[in-house]
Amino acid sequence: MTLGVIMFYSSSIDSPNLGVIEPSNPAYCSSEDLCQLIASSSQELWKNLHGCGAVLLRDFDLKSPEDFEQVALSLFPTTLAAEYPGGAPRKKLTEHVWTTTSFSSYMPIPAHTELSYVPSIQPDYIFFYCCKSPEWGGQTPIIDMGSVLKDLPASLIDKCRQKAMVYSMLSTAKPQRFLDIRLFQWPWFRKSKTWDEVFSSDQPDIVEKKCLATGKQIKWLNAPGKDLIVETKAKSIIQHPITGEEVWAGFSPIFHLWGLAIEALFVTLHQKTWRSFVVLFLLWLVTIIQQFFTCVYNVWNYVFKEKINLPSWFPGNRIRLNVCFEDGTSLSPWEVFLIIKAYWKNATIFNWRDGDVLLLDNKRIGHQRLPFKGSRRDICTAFGK
Ligand SMILES: [Fe+2]
Repeated sequence: MTLGVIMFYSSSIDSPNLGVIEPSNPAYCSSEDLCQLIASSSQELWKNLHGCGAVLLRDFDLKSPEDFEQVALSLFPTTLAAEYPGGAPRKKLTEHVWTTTSFSSYMPIPAHTELSYVPSIQPDYIFFYCCKSPEWGGQTPIIDMGSVLKDLPASLIDKCRQKAMVYSMLSTAKPQRFLDIRLFQWPWFRKSKTWDEVFSSDQPDIVEKKCLATGKQIKWLNAPGKDLIVETKAKSIIQHPITGEEVWAGFSPIFHLWGLAIEALFVTLHQKTWRSFVVLFLLWLVTIIQQFFTCVYNVWNYVFKEKINLPSWFPGNRIRLNVCFEDGTSLSPWEVFLIIKAYWKNATIFNWRDGDVLLLDNKRIGHQRLPFKGSRRDICTAFGK
Protein backbone atom coordinates (compact mmCIF):
# COMPACT_ATOMS: atom_id res chain seq x y z
CA MET A 1 0.00 0.00 0.00
CA THR A 2 1.48 3.38 -0.97
CA LEU A 3 0.24 6.91 -0.58
CA GLY A 4 0.04 7.22 -4.35
CA VAL A 5 -2.81 4.73 -4.36
CA ILE A 6 -4.91 6.46 -1.76
CA MET A 7 -3.97 10.12 -1.91
CA PHE A 8 -6.64 12.29 -3.47
CA TYR A 9 -8.12 15.73 -3.30
CA SER A 10 -11.53 15.14 -1.85
CA SER A 11 -14.45 16.65 -3.73
CA SER A 12 -16.22 17.21 -0.41
CA ILE A 13 -13.37 19.46 0.74
CA ASP A 14 -12.70 21.58 -2.29
CA SER A 15 -9.41 23.27 -1.50
CA PRO A 16 -5.99 23.16 -3.15
CA ASN A 17 -4.53 23.58 0.34
CA LEU A 18 -5.86 20.34 1.78
CA GLY A 19 -4.94 16.86 0.56
CA VAL A 20 -6.94 13.98 1.97
CA ILE A 21 -5.56 10.51 2.64
CA GLU A 22 -7.97 7.64 3.27
CA PRO A 23 -7.33 3.90 3.52
CA SER A 24 -7.78 2.30 0.10
CA ASN A 25 -8.68 -0.96 1.83
CA PRO A 26 -10.94 -0.76 4.94
CA ALA A 27 -9.18 -3.86 6.28
CA TYR A 28 -5.98 -1.80 6.71
CA CYS A 29 -7.14 1.15 8.72
CA SER A 30 -5.77 0.60 12.24
CA SER A 31 -3.36 3.08 13.82
CA GLU A 32 -0.57 0.50 13.33
CA ASP A 33 -1.42 0.33 9.61
CA LEU A 34 -1.28 4.12 9.42
CA CYS A 35 2.12 4.20 11.19
CA GLN A 36 3.43 1.60 8.72
CA LEU A 37 2.00 3.54 5.80
CA ILE A 38 3.72 6.74 6.96
CA ALA A 39 7.02 4.92 7.51
CA SER A 40 6.94 3.33 4.04
CA SER A 41 5.71 6.41 2.15
CA SER A 42 7.12 9.30 4.14
CA GLN A 43 8.77 10.95 1.11
CA GLU A 44 5.51 10.97 -0.78
CA LEU A 45 3.69 12.34 2.27
CA TRP A 46 6.21 15.19 2.64
CA LYS A 47 5.89 15.97 -1.07
CA ASN A 48 2.12 16.19 -0.78
CA LEU A 49 2.32 18.21 2.41
CA HIS A 50 4.65 20.76 0.86
CA GLY A 51 2.50 20.83 -2.27
CA CYS A 52 -0.82 21.44 -0.45
CA GLY A 53 0.26 22.86 2.89
CA ALA A 54 -2.11 20.58 4.81
CA VAL A 55 -2.96 16.87 4.83
CA LEU A 56 -5.99 15.23 6.43
CA LEU A 57 -5.71 11.55 7.40
CA ARG A 58 -9.31 10.36 7.49
CA ASP A 59 -11.15 7.11 8.28
CA PHE A 60 -8.25 5.49 10.07
CA ASP A 61 -9.19 3.76 13.29
CA LEU A 62 -7.43 5.92 15.87
CA LYS A 63 -9.05 5.56 19.28
CA SER A 64 -6.99 7.56 21.76
CA PRO A 65 -4.37 10.30 22.21
CA GLU A 66 -1.83 7.45 22.62
CA ASP A 67 -2.69 6.13 19.12
CA PHE A 68 -2.36 9.67 17.78
CA GLU A 69 1.01 10.07 19.49
CA GLN A 70 2.32 6.93 17.77
CA VAL A 71 1.18 8.27 14.38
CA ALA A 72 2.87 11.63 15.04
CA LEU A 73 6.04 9.86 16.23
CA SER A 74 6.16 7.77 13.07
CA LEU A 75 6.63 11.02 11.12
CA PHE A 76 8.75 12.85 13.73
CA PRO A 77 10.57 10.06 15.63
CA THR A 78 13.06 12.39 17.34
CA THR A 79 11.70 15.90 16.92
CA LEU A 80 8.18 15.76 18.29
CA ALA A 81 7.92 18.46 20.99
CA ALA A 82 7.80 17.31 24.62
CA GLU A 83 7.25 20.82 25.97
CA TYR A 84 4.77 23.51 24.93
CA PRO A 85 6.38 26.90 25.49
CA GLY A 86 3.35 29.08 24.73
CA GLY A 87 1.05 30.79 27.23
CA ALA A 88 -2.25 29.33 25.99
CA PRO A 89 -4.23 27.34 28.58
CA ARG A 90 -3.92 23.65 27.59
CA LYS A 91 -3.45 20.30 29.34
CA LYS A 92 -0.73 17.74 28.67
CA LEU A 93 -2.24 14.32 27.88
CA THR A 94 0.82 12.22 27.01
CA GLU A 95 4.56 12.91 26.61
CA HIS A 96 3.97 14.64 23.24
CA VAL A 97 0.23 15.39 23.11
CA TRP A 98 -1.75 18.32 24.53
CA THR A 99 -5.35 19.41 24.44
CA THR A 100 -6.04 22.39 22.20
CA THR A 101 -6.49 25.76 23.92
CA SER A 102 -9.19 25.48 26.60
CA PHE A 103 -11.40 28.38 25.58
CA SER A 104 -15.14 28.53 26.25
CA SER A 105 -17.20 26.83 23.54
CA TYR A 106 -18.97 30.07 22.53
CA MET A 107 -15.72 32.03 22.10
CA PRO A 108 -13.92 32.24 18.76
CA ILE A 109 -10.15 31.80 18.44
CA PRO A 110 -8.85 34.00 15.62
CA ALA A 111 -6.49 32.61 12.98
CA HIS A 112 -2.76 32.39 13.62
CA THR A 113 0.17 30.13 12.93
CA GLU A 114 1.24 28.37 16.10
CA LEU A 115 3.70 30.44 18.14
CA SER A 116 4.18 32.98 15.34
CA TYR A 117 5.07 35.43 18.10
CA VAL A 118 8.16 33.38 19.15
CA PRO A 119 9.92 32.66 15.82
CA SER A 120 12.91 30.93 17.42
CA ILE A 121 10.78 28.13 18.84
CA GLN A 122 7.90 28.13 16.39
CA PRO A 123 7.11 24.53 15.38
CA ASP A 124 7.46 23.81 11.66
CA TYR A 125 4.49 21.46 11.73
CA ILE A 126 1.39 21.07 13.85
CA PHE A 127 -0.85 18.01 14.17
CA PHE A 128 -4.48 17.96 15.30
CA TYR A 129 -6.38 14.82 16.24
CA CYS A 130 -10.14 14.66 16.68
CA CYS A 131 -11.02 12.31 19.58
CA LYS A 132 -14.62 13.48 19.67
CA SER A 133 -16.15 15.71 17.04
CA PRO A 134 -18.45 18.50 18.24
CA GLU A 135 -22.21 18.21 17.75
CA TRP A 136 -22.27 21.50 15.86
CA GLY A 137 -19.57 23.96 14.73
CA GLY A 138 -16.11 23.78 16.32
CA GLN A 139 -14.32 23.51 12.97
CA THR A 140 -10.62 24.30 12.68
CA PRO A 141 -10.49 26.40 9.50
CA ILE A 142 -7.09 26.35 7.80
CA ILE A 143 -5.71 29.48 6.17
CA ASP A 144 -3.27 29.85 3.28
CA MET A 145 -0.82 32.50 4.50
CA GLY A 146 0.67 33.01 1.00
CA SER A 147 -2.74 34.15 -0.28
CA VAL A 148 -3.34 36.25 2.85
CA LEU A 149 -0.21 38.24 2.01
CA LYS A 150 -1.51 38.89 -1.51
CA ASP A 151 -4.85 40.16 -0.12
CA LEU A 152 -3.47 42.68 2.36
CA PRO A 153 -3.29 46.35 1.34
CA ALA A 154 0.10 47.57 0.06
CA SER A 155 0.36 50.28 2.75
CA LEU A 156 0.07 47.71 5.55
CA ILE A 157 2.53 45.37 3.84
CA ASP A 158 5.04 48.23 3.46
CA LYS A 159 4.71 49.08 7.12
CA CYS A 160 5.15 45.41 8.11
CA ARG A 161 8.24 45.06 5.91
CA GLN A 162 9.87 48.04 7.59
CA LYS A 163 9.00 47.24 11.19
CA ALA A 164 8.83 43.99 13.15
CA MET A 165 6.07 43.48 15.68
CA VAL A 166 6.67 43.22 19.41
CA TYR A 167 4.39 40.87 21.35
CA SER A 168 4.19 41.10 25.13
CA MET A 169 2.62 38.76 27.61
CA LEU A 170 2.20 39.33 31.34
CA SER A 171 2.34 36.22 33.54
CA THR A 172 1.49 36.70 37.18
CA ALA A 173 3.08 35.07 40.22
CA LYS A 174 -0.36 33.98 41.46
CA PRO A 175 -3.51 33.30 39.42
CA GLN A 176 -5.21 36.65 39.07
CA ARG A 177 -8.25 38.20 37.42
CA PHE A 178 -7.99 41.10 34.97
CA LEU A 179 -10.70 43.09 33.26
CA ASP A 180 -9.34 41.84 29.94
CA ILE A 181 -11.38 40.67 26.97
CA ARG A 182 -8.98 37.74 26.43
CA LEU A 183 -9.94 36.37 29.86
CA PHE A 184 -13.67 36.94 29.46
CA GLN A 185 -15.68 33.90 30.50
CA TRP A 186 -19.38 34.38 31.08
CA PRO A 187 -20.42 35.85 33.48
CA TRP A 188 -17.02 37.17 34.61
CA PHE A 189 -13.27 36.86 33.84
CA ARG A 190 -11.18 33.73 34.34
CA LYS A 191 -7.82 33.86 36.13
CA SER A 192 -4.61 34.28 34.15
CA LYS A 193 -1.96 31.58 33.82
CA THR A 194 0.99 32.00 36.21
CA TRP A 195 4.59 32.15 34.98
CA ASP A 196 5.51 28.84 36.63
CA GLU A 197 2.67 27.18 34.67
CA VAL A 198 3.78 28.84 31.43
CA PHE A 199 7.43 27.87 31.84
CA SER A 200 7.00 24.62 33.85
CA SER A 201 9.38 25.88 36.54
CA ASP A 202 8.98 27.84 39.78
CA GLN A 203 12.62 29.02 39.73
CA PRO A 204 13.00 32.60 38.42
CA ASP A 205 16.61 32.00 37.26
CA ILE A 206 15.56 28.91 35.24
CA VAL A 207 12.71 30.88 33.67
CA GLU A 208 15.16 33.68 32.80
CA LYS A 209 17.55 31.19 31.16
CA LYS A 210 14.72 29.55 29.20
CA CYS A 211 13.52 32.92 27.93
CA LEU A 212 16.93 34.27 26.99
CA ALA A 213 17.81 31.00 25.20
CA THR A 214 14.78 31.48 22.93
CA GLY A 215 15.30 35.19 22.23
CA LYS A 216 12.64 36.46 24.64
CA GLN A 217 13.20 39.64 26.63
CA ILE A 218 12.00 39.51 30.21
CA LYS A 219 11.17 42.09 32.84
CA TRP A 220 10.23 41.21 36.42
CA LEU A 221 7.77 43.68 37.91
CA ASN A 222 9.04 44.79 41.34
CA ALA A 223 11.41 41.81 41.95
CA PRO A 224 12.41 38.41 40.53
CA GLY A 225 9.70 35.91 41.33
CA LYS A 226 6.93 38.53 41.16
CA ASP A 227 4.88 39.23 38.03
CA LEU A 228 6.71 38.80 34.74
CA ILE A 229 6.49 40.48 31.34
CA VAL A 230 7.92 38.53 28.40
CA GLU A 231 8.46 40.29 25.09
CA THR A 232 9.30 38.83 21.71
CA LYS A 233 10.01 40.44 18.38
CA ALA A 234 8.73 38.82 15.19
CA LYS A 235 8.57 39.68 11.51
CA SER A 236 5.11 39.79 9.93
CA ILE A 237 6.31 38.58 6.52
CA ILE A 238 8.69 35.65 6.14
CA GLN A 239 10.11 33.40 3.45
CA HIS A 240 9.03 29.80 3.68
CA PRO A 241 12.14 27.78 4.65
CA ILE A 242 11.50 25.03 2.08
CA THR A 243 9.51 26.49 -0.81
CA GLY A 244 11.04 30.00 -0.65
CA GLU A 245 7.55 31.49 -1.07
CA GLU A 246 6.94 34.78 0.72
CA VAL A 247 4.13 34.33 3.23
CA TRP A 248 2.31 36.25 5.95
CA ALA A 249 3.89 35.01 9.19
CA GLY A 250 0.59 34.36 10.96
CA PHE A 251 0.07 37.38 13.22
CA SER A 252 -2.19 36.37 16.11
CA PRO A 253 -5.06 38.91 16.51
CA ILE A 254 -5.74 37.76 20.06
CA PHE A 255 -2.74 39.85 21.20
CA HIS A 256 -4.59 42.97 20.04
CA LEU A 257 -7.33 44.40 22.24
CA TRP A 258 -9.78 44.48 19.32
CA GLY A 259 -8.87 41.06 17.87
CA LEU A 260 -11.63 39.01 19.53
CA ALA A 261 -14.40 41.55 18.90
CA ILE A 262 -13.49 41.79 15.20
CA GLU A 263 -13.18 38.02 14.86
CA ALA A 264 -16.66 37.64 16.44
CA LEU A 265 -18.05 39.82 13.67
CA PHE A 266 -16.87 37.39 10.98
CA VAL A 267 -17.93 34.37 13.04
CA THR A 268 -21.45 35.81 13.37
CA LEU A 269 -21.67 36.41 9.62
CA HIS A 270 -20.61 32.78 9.09
CA GLN A 271 -22.61 30.99 11.81
CA LYS A 272 -25.67 33.29 11.96
CA THR A 273 -26.98 31.95 15.28
CA TRP A 274 -28.62 33.85 18.15
CA ARG A 275 -25.77 32.82 20.39
CA SER A 276 -23.15 34.27 18.04
CA PHE A 277 -25.07 37.59 17.98
CA VAL A 278 -25.16 37.68 21.80
CA VAL A 279 -21.43 36.83 22.03
CA LEU A 280 -20.68 39.51 19.43
CA PHE A 281 -22.58 42.08 21.50
CA LEU A 282 -20.83 41.07 24.75
CA LEU A 283 -17.36 41.05 23.20
CA TRP A 284 -17.86 44.51 21.70
CA LEU A 285 -19.26 45.80 24.99
CA VAL A 286 -16.34 44.48 27.08
CA THR A 287 -13.79 45.67 24.49
CA ILE A 288 -15.25 49.18 24.46
CA ILE A 289 -15.26 49.29 28.29
CA GLN A 290 -11.66 48.05 28.40
CA GLN A 291 -10.60 50.54 25.72
CA PHE A 292 -12.35 53.40 27.53
CA PHE A 293 -10.70 52.69 30.91
CA THR A 294 -7.32 52.20 29.24
CA CYS A 295 -7.64 55.62 27.57
CA VAL A 296 -8.68 57.27 30.85
CA TYR A 297 -5.70 55.66 32.58
CA ASN A 298 -3.25 56.80 29.87
CA VAL A 299 -4.62 60.35 29.73
CA TRP A 300 -4.46 60.64 33.52
CA ASN A 301 -0.83 59.50 33.53
CA TYR A 302 0.05 61.88 30.70
CA VAL A 303 -1.61 64.91 32.31
CA PHE A 304 -0.61 64.35 35.93
CA LYS A 305 2.74 62.64 35.25
CA GLU A 306 2.20 60.21 38.08
CA LYS A 307 0.88 56.68 38.26
CA ILE A 308 -2.52 56.25 39.83
CA ASN A 309 -2.70 53.60 42.51
CA LEU A 310 -5.38 51.38 41.03
CA PRO A 311 -6.27 47.72 41.55
CA SER A 312 -4.12 45.34 39.49
CA TRP A 313 -7.10 44.16 37.39
CA PHE A 314 -7.83 47.71 36.15
CA PRO A 315 -7.41 48.02 32.34
CA GLY A 316 -4.27 49.91 31.35
CA ASN A 317 -2.63 49.43 34.74
CA ARG A 318 -0.97 46.24 33.59
CA ILE A 319 -1.58 44.97 30.10
CA ARG A 320 -1.77 41.18 29.95
CA LEU A 321 -1.42 40.72 26.19
CA ASN A 322 -0.29 43.36 23.75
CA VAL A 323 1.20 43.84 20.31
CA CYS A 324 2.72 46.91 18.68
CA PHE A 325 5.36 47.73 16.08
CA GLU A 326 8.98 47.80 17.22
CA ASP A 327 9.05 51.62 17.11
CA GLY A 328 6.26 51.69 19.70
CA THR A 329 3.48 52.65 17.25
CA SER A 330 0.34 50.62 17.53
CA LEU A 331 -1.57 48.53 15.04
CA SER A 332 -4.97 50.16 14.51
CA PRO A 333 -8.25 48.23 14.91
CA TRP A 334 -8.85 48.86 11.18
CA GLU A 335 -5.56 47.15 10.30
CA VAL A 336 -6.53 44.21 12.51
CA PHE A 337 -9.89 44.12 10.69
CA LEU A 338 -8.12 43.94 7.31
CA ILE A 339 -5.88 41.10 8.48
CA ILE A 340 -8.82 39.09 9.87
CA LYS A 341 -10.81 39.75 6.68
CA ALA A 342 -7.91 38.32 4.63
CA TYR A 343 -7.79 35.29 6.94
CA TRP A 344 -11.47 34.56 6.38
CA LYS A 345 -11.21 35.08 2.64
CA ASN A 346 -8.50 32.41 2.44
CA ALA A 347 -9.92 29.90 4.92
CA THR A 348 -10.89 26.31 4.14
CA ILE A 349 -13.59 25.09 6.52
CA PHE A 350 -14.46 21.42 6.94
CA ASN A 351 -16.30 19.45 9.62
CA TRP A 352 -14.33 17.20 11.96
CA ARG A 353 -14.99 13.46 12.02
CA ASP A 354 -13.96 11.23 14.92
CA GLY A 355 -10.44 9.87 14.33
CA ASP A 356 -9.36 12.60 11.88
CA VAL A 357 -5.69 13.61 11.96
CA LEU A 358 -4.79 16.95 10.39
CA LEU A 359 -1.17 17.84 9.66
CA LEU A 360 -0.31 21.44 8.82
CA ASP A 361 2.83 23.09 7.52
CA ASN A 362 2.83 25.71 10.30
CA LYS A 363 4.98 28.17 8.31
CA ARG A 364 2.47 28.29 5.49
CA ILE A 365 -0.96 27.34 6.85
CA GLY A 366 -2.65 29.05 9.77
CA HIS A 367 -5.54 27.71 11.83
CA GLN A 368 -8.39 29.05 13.93
CA ARG A 369 -11.29 27.64 15.95
CA LEU A 370 -14.96 28.30 15.48
CA PRO A 371 -17.40 28.27 18.41
CA PHE A 372 -19.26 25.00 18.92
CA LYS A 373 -22.36 23.56 20.60
CA GLY A 374 -22.68 20.35 22.61
CA SER A 375 -20.93 19.18 25.71
CA ARG A 376 -17.76 17.82 24.13
CA ARG A 377 -15.22 18.73 21.48
CA ASP A 378 -12.02 16.82 22.12
CA ILE A 379 -9.23 17.86 19.79
CA CYS A 380 -5.62 17.10 20.70
CA THR A 381 -2.48 18.55 19.25
CA ALA A 382 1.23 17.79 18.80
CA PHE A 383 4.12 19.82 17.37
CA GLY A 384 6.91 18.72 15.04
CA LYS A 385 10.19 20.39 14.07
FE1 LIG B 1 -3.12 27.40 17.72
